[in-house]
Amino acid sequence: MASDNPDTASSQVCEILPEKVDIEPFTMVIFGGSGDLSKRKLLPTLYHLCHDQNLPDDFAVIGVASTERSDEEYREIVKEAIREFGEEPVQRECWEKFRKNLFYISGGFDDENTYRSLSLRLEEVTKPTGKGTREIIYYMAVPPRFLPAIFERLSFCNLCRGVFNARIIVEKPFGQDRASAADLNSLIAKSFNEDQIYRIDHYLGKETVQNILFFRFANSIFEPLWNRRYIDHIQITVAEDIGIENRAAFYENAGVVRDIVQNHMMQLLALVAMEPPIGFEADYIRNEKVKVYGTIRSMNEEYIDKFTVRGQYDAGRINGQDVAGYRNEKNISPDSNTPTFFAGKFYIDNWRWAGVPFYLRTGKRLKKRLTEISIHFRQPPLRLFSSKCEIREPNLLVLGVQPHEEIVLHIGVKHPGIGNQLYPVNMDFNYERDLQGDVHFPLPYERLLLDCMKGDRTLFARQDGIEAMWSVVDPIIERWENTRAPEFPDYSAGTWGPEKANELIQSEGRRWRIL
Ligand code: BG6
Repeated sequence: MASDNPDTASSQVCEILPEKVDIEPFTMVIFGGSGDLSKRKLLPTLYHLCHDQNLPDDFAVIGVASTERSDEEYREIVKEAIREFGEEPVQRECWEKFRKNLFYISGGFDDENTYRSLSLRLEEVTKPTGKGTREIIYYMAVPPRFLPAIFERLSFCNLCRGVFNARIIVEKPFGQDRASAADLNSLIAKSFNEDQIYRIDHYLGKETVQNILFFRFANSIFEPLWNRRYIDHIQITVAEDIGIENRAAFYENAGVVRDIVQNHMMQLLALVAMEPPIGFEADYIRNEKVKVYGTIRSMNEEYIDKFTVRGQYDAGRINGQDVAGYRNEKNISPDSNTPTFFAGKFYIDNWRWAGVPFYLRTGKRLKKRLTEISIHFRQPPLRLFSSKCEIREPNLLVLGVQPHEEIVLHIGVKHPGIGNQLYPVNMDFNYERDLQGDVHFPLPYERLLLDCMKGDRTLFARQDGIEAMWSVVDPIIERWENTRAPEFPDYSAGTWGPEKANELIQSEGRRWRIL
């Protein structure tokens, strides 16, 4: 029965059930177990999961790397990493439980002896599940060049199928372009079935990114408007204030399109644009995403020159600090042609989105760190009211991913007074403010590692999705790599990118929401 008290009504239906998950005993083998990714993300996350009692009693973590060291020495490295990068201080009781489950194997990734030692260790430390299986998760925290040797040896030593029930987590980049991604996929497929493969994109582990689907498909009032009849255009911004940090070799080779557009931005685009899946299960969702990539209008050179913008940062000031230009970063060529900024207009040629531009923009060393999607609704058919404020789009919906995890709907109301003036106001929901105290925000790796342990692939990319995303961006990369950008560097660090990005959108009578 409906309650008169709205608070009571909402609390009755909003009882959040405790989110304990039952994870079967498992062993995680981290190739590159003492590398940067392991230290910064994986090991602190595993410790955090253990701390929150989300891991089973019987688990083990085996680091594999080339440096000779003992289990004890490895445990010290892990402890340091948790101290430096962990969410919470190392607590004695929890650490004791964690440390005794940590092991280390030294050896080359192409050396069969490494895998023999691994096999023995797995036999020793992996406890069987209730069903008698032995669950192994291989985490590839290594540069892509090591992958072929690892897959081959794992398979040769019978460590992928059979006695062990194996899953494999592969980090981006998945290839350099569509062709190499397809090669990589066929290579993995020799050793693992598609349902054993977890291609990780940490953006999908972000709470607010997952919320896009909830927002769209758990509410009935927005979806009817979510199409070309009501939406004028959509903007997606992934802005970073950091530079390339210590990743010169990777970045010179990758550039902004491979680093961010091909994966994180394509995922955001698909979540906003996809059709409702028939269920909230991995393949239903992935099927719909792949359809979106397939309908993105392909770009020829003329289109690329006209509707995409590349940029590279010069020296500037960010947060009160002087920062170097890209070409002056350590180990970057002084005449590098690598883009650190991308802006572009995409069309999705299907019934829902025909004619609606999607403007995407991302870059390093921009004014601030901000990721958001803004849905710009059309003007009402008649302008009945005047306004002293500038209200370009009375209805604008902003899905804030970071740093503000929020949803804001901009609407126009009557300004109080004797005139008939329109005034802009916001209706908003902010995770931190509105669910204060009630929520724990799992970090992306926390959520994704748990999902892999549970065997849930919903938030991981599928082979055809990866290849389809490359098909969208390959022509841009090819065009840009084949033509020099004489104007580089063309934006100062601490700005919103090159002027051409403004021209791109302004020439169509629109403007970037964040300027
Ligand atoms: C990574 C990119 O995938 O994402 C980095 O390789 C980038 O270059 C990072 O800085 C951004 O992630 P986030 O979560 O900070 O937005």
